[in-house]
Amino acid sequence: MTDYKKIIVTGGAGFIGSNFVHYVYNNHPEVEKIYVLDKLTYAGNRANIEEILGERVELVVGDIADATLVDELASKVDAIVHYAAESHNDNSLKSQDEFIHTNFIGTYTLIQAARKYDLRFHHVSTDEVYGDLPYREDLPGHGEGEGEKFTDKTPYNPSSPYSSTKAASDLIVRAWVRSFGLKATISNCSNNYGPYQHIEKFIPRQITNILSGIRPKLYGDGKNVRDWIHTEDHSSGVWTILTKGKIGETYLIGADGEKNNKEVLELILAEMGQTADAYDHVTDRAGHDLRYAIDNTKLRTELGWSPVHTDFESGIKDTIKWYTEHENWWKAEKAAVEANYAKTQEVLKK
Ligand SMILES: NC(=O)c1ccc[n+]([C@@H]2O[C@H](COP(=O)([O-])OP(=O)(O)OC[C@H]3O[C@@H](n4cnc5c(N)ncnc54)[C@H](O)[C@@H]3O)[C@@H](O)[C@H]2O)c1
Repeated sequence: MTDYKKIIVTGGAGFIGSNFVHYVYNNHPEVEKIYVLDKLTYAGNRANIEEILGERVELVVGDIADATLVDELASKVDAIVHYAAESHNDNSLKSQDEFIHTNFIGTYTLIQAARKYDLRFHHVSTDEVYGDLPYREDLPGHGEGEGEKFTDKTPYNPSSPYSSTKAASDLIVRAWVRSFGLKATISNCSNNYGPYQHIEKFIPRQITNILSGIRPKLYGDGKNVRDWIHTEDHSSGVWTILTKGKIGETYLIGADGEKNNKEVLELILAEMGQTADAYDHVTDRAGHDLRYAIDNTKLRTELGWSPVHTDFESGIKDTIKWYTEHENWWKAEKAAVEANYAKTQEVLKK
């Protein structure tokens, strides 16, 4: 049960936000109304929530930085769950305006409204605000599952315009709690995978490359380690924090899923019947973070959360199946996404 009968989910037509909207719709019938506030940028897609739009779920197409619109919606609800963001690191290296606008000014606009109407506010952030962790060259897989991990006490050290604008938004949320009593919590989650993820991102890009007869592409040597979590586990984590979290606290969400990019690509290739070397190496991204790893102890022990999708292989199998069965969802954009990558990524000769 929850005190929050009417909520706004910003970015609820994007990858993770739409998964959260489905999660609440399916598991929490006591939530009577979900307003999805989404600008429908290239990353937002009405189709992600089409089948549940109706009396309980309403899509409001608009900008989170539009103070008049945000005020009008905020006056009708008990809580805001804030997912909307410009979220792609590569894009943030090409142009920064939208990152400042949405991630910083957008968040500022929302917390001002939450403050005015005394709403519960949950801010969805990323582990990328912490920068990266070192490789452990002495360990197989470079220390995956071992060694240092991020906690809510790790100092911020963002590397890109994406992660620094997310870090800036986290800081103003924290300050609004201290200065104005904003009823906010923050979550910093690791890399998500699952259905509805835009095909510009690593896992769906590789899967849809293979489905399109294009060789997958790996940045550099592929040693960069990410801590993967199924997006449904991210949703249950956010719901747990929204309903049980302590105001002013930050919780890290991760499912102990460390893998380097090469391993993930080789798993996808194997699951899709390809040989382990059927891909190209491409020039690395500037400032590419080495390793992320989340210590999820606080969320597990203080709030009793645990992930359900703990078998990465089976999660990847399901994700491959979803992209295979939903070609209509991604096919039209494939050529443009690859043309965009081709401008900056050069295939390296072996
Ligand atoms: N993708 C990951 O692995 C990951 C990991 C941890 C945290 N996060 C965080 O989760 C959130 C969602 O990430 P995602 O991968 O689903 O992103 P996404 O890019 O798939 O979706 C973002 C959504 O926000 C909407 N949006 C963008 N600008 C907007 C604006 N000004 N006003 C209203 N809506 C706007 C887009 O239309 C889109 O629907 C982000 O805050 C991101 O930082 C993502």
